[in-house]
Amino acid sequence: INEHALDRDCTTLSRHVLQQFPSFTPEAQDISAIMSRLALAGKLIARRLSRAGLMDNALGFTGEVNVQGESVKKMDIYANDVFISVFKQSGLVCRLASEEMEKLYYIPENCPIGRYTLLYDPIDGSSNVDINLNVGSIFSIRQQVGNDLDGTAQDLLQTGGREQIAAGYILYGPSTVLVYSIGNGVHSFILDPSLGEFILAEENIKVPNRGAVYSMNEGNFWQWDRSIRDYIRYVHRHEGYTARYSGALVGDFHRILLQGGVFIYPGTLKKPEGKLRLLYETAPLGFLIEQAGGWASTGEQAILDVIPDKLHARTPLIIGSTEDVKLVESFIQELA
Ligand code: AHG
Ligand code: MN
Ligand code: MN
Ligand code: MN
Repeated sequence: INEHALDRDCTTLSRHVLQQFPSFTPEAQDISAIMSRLALAGKLIARRLSRAGLMDNALGFTGEVNVQGESVKKMDIYANDVFISVFKQSGLVCRLASEEMEKLYYIPENCPIGRYTLLYDPIDGSSNVDINLNVGSIFSIRQQVGNDLDGTAQDLLQTGGREQIAAGYILYGPSTVLVYSIGNGVHSFILDPSLGEFILAEENIKVPNRGAVYSMNEGNFWQWDRSIRDYIRYVHRHEGYTARYSGALVGDFHRILLQGGVFIYPGTLKKPEGKLRLLYETAPLGFLIEQAGGWASTGEQAILDVIPDKLHARTPLIIGSTEDVKLVESFIQELA
């Protein structure tokens, strides 16, 4: 075995996080431990996804409708509960907010010094779950500010996404990939199932300045603002563009992070704020893309500057290579 391979297999996620800090401060150890718990959640979800089709009640709908007004998949609930379970005995996180829970979940008995809050989308791209296509989990770590005695997490509604301590996602694809940043570059890890460890794959990922991919659901074309329709017409008229859209934000984002391009989920006439949720979808990905040298905006302002007015606030999303995002924004500004 060559030295490099051994050293690489030992560059696990928890070690990599510790290396991001100048010294082994309590915060460094907290964040490293939190990332390890998130990795455990990813392994539990990846395991369930890989055998869901063989199990009696892993796929399909629960029959419930969540706070988003969406029909809930059994996998949404399983994954939601996985994140709660891995943080319950951890002594790390005292509040969890999830796409699938109307209110926050409090773990008061172990609200630690760091008083971290986990914001997450347990399964992103649920519509892909029953057809074995890629889905993801998205996470964001925030500090709890103040005492939140009334359980309304007002502190989450007073700042924007630049306050995130860590953000990332797990992509359940042919391999299970974890991508994260704590504000010091974007790094990817691949799960080695034979070790049960996420092994470092790529450090300091930079998104290309522009790319060929544009990713959006053109089925909504007539619901979009005129400026977005003009952008699409421009793309249709020009060489060098290719459409890629999987129905799962994490997979579409990961392609753009690595190869460049732009993902757009605009507002519509019926829903001017769009579909995607700020705290556990657009803000964590906005954090990552800025760390990777790209850009994310609502069309009017940077995603990371948006301050939510409620826990499940939504924003339009234009995210990816800086030049491609700026081109979309230029169509919006032209008609503003
Ligand atoms: P979720 O499954 O967590 O509700 O998220 C689904 C989101 C996002 O993953 C995807 O890009 C988008 O919804 C797809 O929406 P459309 O089906 O309207 O294109
Ligand atoms: Mn959903
Ligand atoms: Mn989602
Ligand atoms: Mn979801």
